[in-house]
Amino acid sequence: METIKAIAEQHGTPIILFSENEFTRVYKSIQSYLPRVKHHFALKPLPTKECIQAISACDGYLDIASIGELELVKSADPSMVARTVYTHPIKKEADIETAALNGIKTMVAENFTELRKIMKVAPEMNVLLRIAFPNEEARCNLSERYGADEERFERLYAFAHKIGANVIGCSFHVGSQMQQPNEHVNAIRECRRIYNWVYENFGVKFKVLDIGGGFPAKYTKDDMDLEDFCEPIREVLDELFEDEMDIWSEPGRSIAANCHIAVTQVIGKVWKNNRMWYYLDDGVYGTYAGMMYEDISYELHPTKYSEEEPILSVFAGPTCDSIDVILKNVMYQPLEVGDYLYSIRIGAYGWASRTQFNLLAESRIIPYDFDLVAIEEFIEESQLVLA
Ligand SMILES: Cc1ncc(COP(=O)(O)O)c(C=O)c1O
Repeated sequence: METIKAIAEQHGTPIILFSENEFTRVYKSIQSYLPRVKHHFALKPLPTKECIQAISACDGYLDIASIGELELVKSADPSMVARTVYTHPIKKEADIETAALNGIKTMVAENFTELRKIMKVAPEMNVLLRIAFPNEEARCNLSERYGADEERFERLYAFAHKIGANVIGCSFHVGSQMQQPNEHVNAIRECRRIYNWVYENFGVKFKVLDIGGGFPAKYTKDDMDLEDFCEPIREVLDELFEDEMDIWSEPGRSIAANCHIAVTQVIGKVWKNNRMWYYLDDGVYGTYAGMMYEDISYELHPTKYSEEEPILSVFAGPTCDSIDVILKNVMYQPLEVGDYLYSIRIGAYGWASRTQFNLLAESRIIPYDFDLVAIEEFIEESQLVLA
């Protein structure tokens, strides 16, 4: 991967190569798999101007969780504010007000206190009430933290109606990186029941259904294809919700996970306890944070393959902490200080979760359009030749 090496030499490391093509390709594919859904890309995993502009170019939508993200949207493409939903269920009163003043038209609430805050500072705001669908098996069981269960929803809606909140529908998040679409399908069915209940009891017809995130990223061959995952969701939406119902989603991970490559450099090495320890300038407190937060394991690929005998190796990050180890006890070609290594499919939330631990340099994003499939083929072929 001479090009990756050349970019690393030019910009220094640690860096993330961001492929706008790859990002756009996945976003457009979810648009085609669920054509009637307005997909609000959740900025959380990759809050960058490039992503916002790419979504804008696809006539897409955004989901924000903070005023910081709103500021980013405004600076990247102010026209996108009108296509942005503020989905964090708990917000400071000042943030609700700032969002309203800056053009946010819809936000999420899930409790009485939040509804009171919204009515106090932004009474015109459209509100989506978040419903909980607990799911122990999801990579992040978000309904444990947010959302009203069925019984609370009925009281919550009655209260919202009484105080005149402009509730336009419901949202949910069944959990991140779902392996099967069943939870989405069941939640959509449950929402149909809830929407009927609201109509029967209050004569109100909801206009929007927000089916959240949770779509799977393709980390490994075992992860379900997005197209297969979306099919039953499309069917149940068509079965239960008439065309006038505005359907939204908030995909984050599935769009962001595979559009970047991490590039790091060997900065030190020592032979210790019968293995070679390599120290890199990026690690689990940096771009490889998914190891800590999400149980993701990474591969490291050399920019140049060698035919030398592999040796038992450990790859550690740059901090002083003992847990900062990316790969332990693997057979690997010998490397020198200054060599570059890269990782593909590095996941969605690593870059956003990276820290400044030890005040070490954080990875920077460098735009570079790559073809993921071609890189994977190259890696596979190179490994076969050496095997
Ligand atoms: C409210 C909300 N929407 C969307 C997302 C994105 O979810 P995912 O990355 O599973 O697509 C999250 C993730 O935490 C979230 O909390």
